[in-house]
Amino acid sequence: MTQSPHVPWWKTAVIYQIYPRSFADSTGDGVGDLGGVTSRLGHLRDLGVDGLWLSPFYRSPMADFGYDISDHTDVDPVFGTLADADALVAAAHDLDLRVVVDFVPNHTSDQHPWFVDARSSRSADHREFYVWRDPAPDGGAPNNWRAAFSDSPAWTFDEATGQYYLHLFLPEQPDVDWNNPAAAEAMLDVLRFWLDRGVDGFRADVIQCIGKTADLPDAPPEMDGLPAVLLDFGEDTHRHIRSIRQLLDSYDGDRFVVGETSVLDRARMVSYLGDDDELNLAFNFLALYSTWDADVWRTELAESYALHDAAGAWPTWVLSNHDLMRHRSRYGSEARARAAAVMLLTVRGTPFLYQGEEIGLADAVIPEDRVVDPGGRDGCRAPVPWTAERSHGWGADPWLPFPPEAGRLNVATQTGDPASMLEHYRRLIDLRRATPALHGGEIELLEAPDGVLRYRRFTDDRSGDLVEIAINFTDGPIDDAITDGRWLGGTTPRAVAGTTLGPDEARIVAVDG
Ligand code: GLC
Repeated sequence: MTQSPHVPWWKTAVIYQIYPRSFADSTGDGVGDLGGVTSRLGHLRDLGVDGLWLSPFYRSPMADFGYDISDHTDVDPVFGTLADADALVAAAHDLDLRVVVDFVPNHTSDQHPWFVDARSSRSADHREFYVWRDPAPDGGAPNNWRAAFSDSPAWTFDEATGQYYLHLFLPEQPDVDWNNPAAAEAMLDVLRFWLDRGVDGFRADVIQCIGKTADLPDAPPEMDGLPAVLLDFGEDTHRHIRSIRQLLDSYDGDRFVVGETSVLDRARMVSYLGDDDELNLAFNFLALYSTWDADVWRTELAESYALHDAAGAWPTWVLSNHDLMRHRSRYGSEARARAAAVMLLTVRGTPFLYQGEEIGLADAVIPEDRVVDPGGRDGCRAPVPWTAERSHGWGADPWLPFPPEAGRLNVATQTGDPASMLEHYRRLIDLRRATPALHGGEIELLEAPDGVLRYRRFTDDRSGDLVEIAINFTDGPIDDAITDGRWLGGTTPRAVAGTTLGPDEARIVAVDG
């Protein structure tokens, strides 16, 4: 008997991103925390996802809300304790939910003991953990790189030691020099620490930036006005990613790493998957920037699949995260967000959901006096409303205002209402789990009338259902848009038949091969 090949869990999974500050608050201080996450794991189980990814909850001065880490191996008091993290991992595992944590390899906080030591003198033990350079001959920054979130140089001059240090993000986030073996090893130790505590994988923050070449040449003229995070840092980055992968592969249980490969070149994004020896998965940022248009998405899917197939790699799909306007807001209507959910959960690849999309949240409107993020991302980070009443399940007034229509767009109100976004997501995730052609299998893009994206899914051996999906990206009905097959699901809560798709309708049918 031939054995079927081993399929790692993360290939067939649906993974749910949690931004801990805004998910659920167990202490009543208005800031979400790990106890809050643990108390709401039932929501994730009922939604049907397989795992959760937690944005950073480590010790941090919060200049970048946790992406500036001052201790990688402890929990910030605002989120709880290390014991709370252990309890969360254990409780999730008891419910068969995997836990993915954020790994921020490119930089630390300027308050991290490594950097505090590094800036204390040129001969400090940790000096070379970071990227230091002498001033240019005119006393200015060593090269023309720009930092993210501002139009400022990616360099800050350190008066005490007379050199500049590199920071692709805020000055409070100095870049780590992975080309220094001791720094790279210390970063791998961070992974070991969390692997040994039982986490199932990592989301690696701006992983494409970790390999800085020694000579740090100026960015080319076409990068004028763009942040240096978009530069191609070359082979060193690939080498460091391979060391991360080797470490993960030395553990059992299909531990994996998904990279925040926020680059605008699809081939480069796929290059970080290597020859199955770099990242296991890479986020596709071009898809996050794709507009709600059938042709745009057809091209997006076709090009992504071609590149992933050529590399023998598995794609991922994501529509929203904690850094960008939510897709409900970008696409402009709830009806489109419903159709988008059908697409996200039926295309080939691992889907990642962002907390709150399952209840149809739009970005919050943030009054000027409540803006807190230096990167202008507060709107998508608004707290998740759990209940209809004024406090929406939060004790004190939360750290950011709630998203619009929280009296309707909350978990309690939508539970059990077949027409709600929440029940729509639950049905889609159930169907995906029950249908091998959807959670594994192949995809074929089909011809379709203008405004419609249409594709088929089937298992590699074509043994199960042949599933057809069609999505109407327009606000009018379209004829001959889908085969008249056996209804499996879609934007309508009840079965519909025929070959016409209504406005903003998406439908999933089983058809005869
Ligand atoms: C990533 C994170 C973002 C953070 C930045 C710097 O893009 O997703 O939230 O600000 O890296 O760590």
